[in-house]
Amino acid sequence: MAEHKVIFLPDGIQKNVAEGTTIMAAAAEAGVELEGPCGGRGTCGKCRVLVKARGEEEWVLACKTPVTEDMTIEIPQAAVALHRKSALTETDVHIKIEPGIKKKAIKVKEATVEYQASDTERLLSELGNALKVFNLEALKSLPKAVRKSQGLVTVTMTDDEILAVEPGDVTGRLFGIAVDIGTTTIVVSLVNLLNGETLSTASATNAQNIFGADVIARIEHVMKQAQGLEQLQRRVVNVINRLIEKLSEECSVAPQEIVKVSIAGNTTMGHLFLGLDPSAIAPAPFTPVVRHDVQVEGKQVGLKVYPAAKVTVLPNIAGYVGADTIAVILATNIYQEKGVTLAIDIGTNGEMVLSVNGNLMACSTAAGPAFEGAHIKQGMRAAAGAIEGVRIEEDVMLRVIGNTAAKGICGSGLIDAIAELVRVGIIDQSGKLLGKEEAEHLPDNLRDRLST
Ligand code: FES
Repeated sequence: MAEHKVIFLPDGIQKNVAEGTTIMAAAAEAGVELEGPCGGRGTCGKCRVLVKARGEEEWVLACKTPVTEDMTIEIPQAAVALHRKSALTETDVHIKIEPGIKKKAIKVKEATVEYQASDTERLLSELGNALKVFNLEALKSLPKAVRKSQGLVTVTMTDDEILAVEPGDVTGRLFGIAVDIGTTTIVVSLVNLLNGETLSTASATNAQNIFGADVIARIEHVMKQAQGLEQLQRRVVNVINRLIEKLSEECSVAPQEIVKVSIAGNTTMGHLFLGLDPSAIAPAPFTPVVRHDVQVEGKQVGLKVYPAAKVTVLPNIAGYVGADTIAVILATNIYQEKGVTLAIDIGTNGEMVLSVNGNLMACSTAAGPAFEGAHIKQGMRAAAGAIEGVRIEEDVMLRVIGNTAAKGICGSGLIDAIAELVRVGIIDQSGKLLGKEEAEHLPDNLRDRLST
């Protein structure tokens, strides 16, 4: 099949793709992430790009336009899904950390003609011969480790399994990551498992977004495309791996030193991360494959951490109330509250948990896309160029993500704008947006901004 060269501007990224590949798919192959809130149905218009070929220019929808010749494609920055908010704040919750993994330094006796015990037997005898299963990864590193530092090794273990054996005493280094897989944004924190300190946190767009902004569009992609599930799984793991790499560099922690991974996310995101088919979650009765927690090893899901790292995907509550809500319940301690308390998690999916003296009830609904573009002309996600803060004083002041020119408005910007319009009396108590004639109390420059 014929191939064509595609150049993506402004970054100048080049890629040869097969004829007939859509521009959206070509961008994905080139590592250029475009917004695709409608999942490529051609209805949202958010993937518009400028195609330059044979001296002519034309605006097209990337999801519906095939590559038929060599072309240069200019991507307006609003369509690029790379830049997330860089400021992430953490709650002041003090949680006693119990990772279920510990390290112990021991001296393994040398084998001799008189003491012809295997490496594992000599190591286990120093551990008190408690029954321990050796992970294959631990066995692979064992012979070198016991012979390198005069038998001094550090054993990383759970209650019943030896995960790793390293030469020397490295008991002061034990690391894990906590991952929140949002439908829109993925956040990863690197944690010191010895004291619970969060060393650093990084976030990125969930690269599944080219297949749709919400969980239903992602599930539809799995149902319609033979490779859909694999594509979505690979994309989420790739983003997590990129963030692990970034955090590792920043904190001087090797990815191999990460031995524990905790994953939270809505039910569909958890399924896609594990490569489980989420199709039955979409229609009633909204049935997930699994609700309880799932334990796997890092290498089984393609994570670039220690291959035998223990990966825990938190349990789900129901098809549309997932492990991220479990995380909210645990982080807020809402289950221990007396009286009536409501916890709200507004993401692409919105969940609420009501606690009445510790009795919990939860529900969810679509949230993010409703604010960020689905039916709002200038709506966009919280990417560079999105208005995220609005203040009305003598004039209208905007806070724009990335400190660039405003290109659209995201959910927090919309809520801010409405709150300010109510505060200064442009929206009245009934919810009516006043016209120029009615807003007599406003200074002229603000009134001039209102259409009648
Ligand atoms: Fe192309 Fe929506 S119109 S992704």
